[in-house]
Amino acid sequence: MERLDKLLAATGRWSRKEAKALIKSGRVLVDGQRPNGPEDKVPPEALLTLDGRPLAADRYTYLMLHKPPGVVSSTQDPRDPTVLTLLPPHLQKTGLFPVGRLDKDAEGLLLLTNDGPLAHRLLSPRRHVDKVYYVETEGSLTPEDQQALAQGVTLRDGTLCLPARLERLEAPQTALVTIQEGKYHQVKRMLAAQGKPVRRLKRLAMGPLTLDPQLPPGAWRPLSQKELAALHALEE
Ligand code: URA
Repeated sequence: MERLDKLLAATGRWSRKEAKALIKSGRVLVDGQRPNGPEDKVPPEALLTLDGRPLAADRYTYLMLHKPPGVVSSTQDPRDPTVLTLLPPHLQKTGLFPVGRLDKDAEGLLLLTNDGPLAHRLLSPRRHVDKVYYVETEGSLTPEDQQALAQGVTLRDGTLCLPARLERLEAPQTALVTIQEGKYHQVKRMLAAQGKPVRRLKRLAMGPLTLDPQLPPGAWRPLSQKELAALHALEE
């Protein structure tokens, strides 16, 4: 059993204060009934609705974060601030973790959730979920680099990568790189193997999720119902 206001705030859509106000307004029903108040205890199987529409079909939290450089994609770190420090305190305690890491100096789209099974499926090497990165490199990117990535680059330690897409952009040291796997430092290592070290790396998309252009670095928002549905559709 969990407090109703706490449950609503854990979706990331409202602060605790906003959740309390929403409940008091009578717009939230629990199994079709108006609750007594924000502190009502609610069983896990109860159906919550807002204005008659089911609220967060399940009780997991899904947030899109625009990771800035300088924070680490983990839940704890002895030295550096983690991505969790960018969230309000009430969301730091909901067991959220990043799905697929970004290096400390990398930026862009990061999905945070406490839905372990979904994260597992998204990260499964068998699933080949596309990740799209914007890169800036030292040295101009060439059609040969494009071809090498399309064929599958062999990293300096001998690891063979699956075919990847490199789409050169107007500035010769910039490109979009799409990979289907998530090896450690993969984009940096693939381009280093081509003699084109990466200077800037920004993730723009992961599977059906694309970085919201309205979200400045360091900001986050809950996933929309449409984004959630797309993620769940990917699971089947
Ligand atoms: N590839 C990298 O090299 N670094 C990242 O953070 C993500 C992909």
